[in-house]
Amino acid sequence: MKLLVTGGAGFIGSHLVRRLVVQGGHQVVNLDALKYSGNPANTHDLNSHARYRFFHGDIADQALVKRLLEEHRIEGVINAAAETHVDRSILDPGSFANTDVVGTGVLLEEARRAGVKRFVQVSTDEVYGSVETGTSTEEDRLVPRSPYSASKAGGDLLTLSFWTTYRFPVMVTRGSNTYGPNQYPEKFIPLFVTNAIDDQPLPLYGDGCQRRDWLAVEDHCAAIERVLSDGEPGQIYNIGGGNERENLAVAEQLLSLLGKPKSLIRFVEDRPGHDRRYAVDSRKLTKIGWQPTVPFDDGLKTTVEWYRKHESWWRPIKSGEFRAYYEAMYGKRLREGSSA
Ligand code: DAU
Repeated sequence: MKLLVTGGAGFIGSHLVRRLVVQGGHQVVNLDALKYSGNPANTHDLNSHARYRFFHGDIADQALVKRLLEEHRIEGVINAAAETHVDRSILDPGSFANTDVVGTGVLLEEARRAGVKRFVQVSTDEVYGSVETGTSTEEDRLVPRSPYSASKAGGDLLTLSFWTTYRFPVMVTRGSNTYGPNQYPEKFIPLFVTNAIDDQPLPLYGDGCQRRDWLAVEDHCAAIERVLSDGEPGQIYNIGGGNERENLAVAEQLLSLLGKPKSLIRFVEDRPGHDRRYAVDSRKLTKIGWQPTVPFDDGLKTTVEWYRKHESWWRPIKSGEFRAYYEAMYGKRLREGSSA
């Protein structure tokens, strides 16, 4: 297929683009705004590939989106462009509404007008809110609790309305916590791994007993590709890794992989409105032929190794814009925190 993938210079987007071009044999136009976490280095290996083109721009730029869809005769769109970090959404909620709701709306409308055949909206299990027990199914009520998850829920609902209203063939995926190489080091696993490499404290929120279900990025991308090819229009598909862990246990595991002491863990003031647990039921997706393949112990080991060997990728990031963000987010908390 001729595909437009948005956010293809980001973490999940770059793995997805590579998979679609190299393994899937698709032609891919990658549109990315290259905001703070978009990194051209994530796809540099594809730059000379005959089936790959990169364009710098915003999904909310209607004229640009229209031109790309028409000039490249796009048949399918995967919207992986988003503001994604919960903590940043607490500092700056407006930019999340702009990209995750308004930008998604522009992309949907232009794709519909251009006669696109398949549209996949990459979303998140966070739209279900905190799930104390059991698992969320695709029919569950949406109870987003952060500006990030509320913006993603808005994007999901807008996407689904295009099926109900126009019979525009959209599908929504709701993935769990994703990890792997090339993840911007503001997220839990890459932040903790890179801090530990530098013998810096690991700021663990609250009691550290929150639970997340970890999904390897390659499994997440395989799921999106499966939905693109075999998903039913108008449907939602949960994607869970089947690796539920407490944050404290993950912190201890990565410290042990790096041979670093547990005393690096620092309990700090909790994230406001912190969701205690996410867990999804992915049976709908397994019925169309997907299942996770990477056990967490293997995936974490590979990821830790990757960060260990790719300091040239993350050191420039952590010394740039990131410093001011880190001080605003963690400075006071770390000074007041307590060790494990
Ligand atoms: O569930 C899917 C979602 O997973 C995605 O939609 C989001 O884009 C992605 O960021 C992630 O959301 P979380 O808020 O769960 O991810 P984060 O990596 O920020 O945090 C994971 C857990 O670790 C969470 O319970 C908060 C905790 N945490 C995180 C950071 C950054 C800490 O204890 N300390 C930290 O410094």
